[in-house]
Amino acid sequence: MAKYKIVALPGDGIGQIVLEEAIRVLDAVGFDAEYIHGDIGWEFWKKEGNPLPERTIKLIEEHKIALFGAITSKPKDEAAKELAPELQGKGLTYSSPIVGLRQHFKLEISLRPCRTYEGNPLNFIRRTPDGGFEEPFVNVAIFRQNTEGLYGGVEWSNPPEEVYKAFLTHPKFVKNFGNIPKEEIAISTRIFTRGAVERILRAAFEYARKYGFKSVTVAEKPNVIRETSGMMYQMAKELQKNDYPEIEVWNVNIDAMMMWLTKNPEDFGVIVASNMFGDIVSDAFAGLVGGLGFAASAQYNPQSGVAVFEPTHGSAPKYAEYETPIVNPIAMIEAARMMLEYIGEQDKADRIRQAIAKVIKEGKVRTYDMLKLKGSPEVLQQGAASTRQMTDAIIANL
Ligand code: NAI
Ligand code: MG
Repeated sequence: MAKYKIVALPGDGIGQIVLEEAIRVLDAVGFDAEYIHGDIGWEFWKKEGNPLPERTIKLIEEHKIALFGAITSKPKDEAAKELAPELQGKGLTYSSPIVGLRQHFKLEISLRPCRTYEGNPLNFIRRTPDGGFEEPFVNVAIFRQNTEGLYGGVEWSNPPEEVYKAFLTHPKFVKNFGNIPKEEIAISTRIFTRGAVERILRAAFEYARKYGFKSVTVAEKPNVIRETSGMMYQMAKELQKNDYPEIEVWNVNIDAMMMWLTKNPEDFGVIVASNMFGDIVSDAFAGLVGGLGFAASAQYNPQSGVAVFEPTHGSAPKYAEYETPIVNPIAMIEAARMMLEYIGEQDKADRIRQAIAKVIKEGKVRTYDMLKLKGSPEVLQQGAASTRQMTDAIIANL
């Protein structure tokens, strides 16, 4: 019997293509696992009216660890039109299975490492005073609180009377908005809770300790958003003092962060932020190290241990129809590598990283995105490696 059981959720489009490639790499590195297929995505929305069937939730509940490709989603009206005839007009509404997974399993921690692979033509470079350029080595890990804050979904347009009245108890509301008709007001809340903030901070500090990062940067705005950002920064300082004295806490406002990360990205180590700020800062850093072909994330719940590993990119449906797939499998392989780290197979994770590093440094095998070509089947004649060739090169270097 295999040592691990992993739920494989290919989803739609190129999700199916890249997940298969990642499993080839996992097999080649000697990871002893059985992959249990889980249904998710557009096909199940159309056939069953649910892109995240209950049986898939059960599978993840049972096995806890999932590798996820990507899904297709469409606006509500379009989604309703694509339902099977027998499901039409039953009032089914589409909702994203990714958000569904996050909510059901309370995947409150999102981790996205962004690390430079030397020789990647997509790496960020900056000018030097003598007119040359230099390529800073970026190595950050962004911890984003994944369930509350601005994406918590507590919001109103033309708020109900009792909500409006509650707001009127705040002097700043009265002063700034008191004479504006209620119908013209929209409110989105940003709720933080101490438990969740402590867990995201602890995850960040633990990671810094485990992987030898010297700092944890809180990327918020505590001087302006005092109650929530202020809470996170305050708690970070307390935690550091009591439990992580060897790690420094830096406070960098989110707006300044977006500037510093293109000036001195190599200065940062672990970064921690709330839901929306973490979303923004993690996309920005991903852009410095190769973008969608390279970016992967983990979403997990530190209490139940349920964890989902995925590339950042979507299902790129157009590309899924090519006879020879051209998309870069590295983002998905990175997701698989993160899974190995999470479950304690550090040695295999490191071997995968080294193999990817070798292929990139050699520079002979590059997918179309790395050559900055526009995606089309012709890129293969223009010197781009196919998806499969890239995976083969990585496997050959394991
Ligand atoms: P996308 O990420 O699927 O593709 C955007 C573009 O990025 C592609 O046209 C391609 O040029 C490039 N790209 C993506 N993955 C790549 C890879 N592995 N290698 C090289 N280039 C790559 O985003 P798009 O087109 O906005 O959305 C397509 C579908 O995916 C939509 O239905 C959207 O809702 C869904 N989506 C799903 C996500 C997920 O499952 N996590 C995330 C983002 C979008
Ligand atoms: Mg994002």
